[in-house]
Amino acid sequence: AQRKPMVAGNWKMNGSLELVSELAEVITKIDTSDVDILVFPPFPLVKSALDAGLKAGAQTVSENNAGAFTGEVDAQLIHALGANYTLVGHSERRAIYGESNETVAAKFAKAQENNLTPILCVGESEQEREQELTEQVVWQQIDAIISKLGVDALANSVIAYEPVWAIGTGKTASPEQAQAVHKFIRSKLAELNSELAAKIQLLYGGSVNENNSEQLFAQPDIDGGLIGGASLKANSFATICNSAK
Ligand code: G3H
Repeated sequence: AQRKPMVAGNWKMNGSLELVSELAEVITKIDTSDVDILVFPPFPLVKSALDAGLKAGAQTVSENNAGAFTGEVDAQLIHALGANYTLVGHSERRAIYGESNETVAAKFAKAQENNLTPILCVGESEQEREQELTEQVVWQQIDAIISKLGVDALANSVIAYEPVWAIGTGKTASPEQAQAVHKFIRSKLAELNSELAAKIQLLYGGSVNENNSEQLFAQPDIDGGLIGGASLKANSFATICNSAK
């Protein structure tokens, strides 16, 4: 395959030291020569997850360098722990914590400056989809990175398309709906840099589970998934990881 599949588990504000051990026991047994497997636990568990043999990253990082920013976490510190990835611009960060496209672009840049590969999350709300604004919204979110850093910055990144209406709702996008947006993203990128567009991993997220992952991941422009709820159950997550191969 042109692109290695990736399955990433976003724990959000869930999980425990026990879950790290449970998951590590099952997930570290999977052969990762044909799938990248990552977990994004809450900050206090990142080091434990790495020590347990999982590839772990951060759910967000600060857009600033170390300094007087109480409660924030420095990308440099995350990398120093041994992590190689961070999510940026998850829809919950955008909606609940008011992260704008500009803030997300700043975090994306800071992640890369510190040798973390950003997984940029994009996606439209239900209302935006009803108003047929999906492509416009998704492209604006991606273009915020391109205008700040240039298209080549995306070469060292992953994009996760997560329709907001499908997150945590049990209402998954159909494989056709998801594929259509992935194809749109890849063809827009191809207008700017065709090699990059062919290589970049595009993940789908939003109510992926062990029963629907295979069909979603079989779509030509879907290279794996960003999994929320189902990544908190070791066996479900393992099944999803294997279905991406
Ligand atoms: O980052 C993960 C997504 O928000 C998906 O969450 O699988 O619980 O719908 P979910």
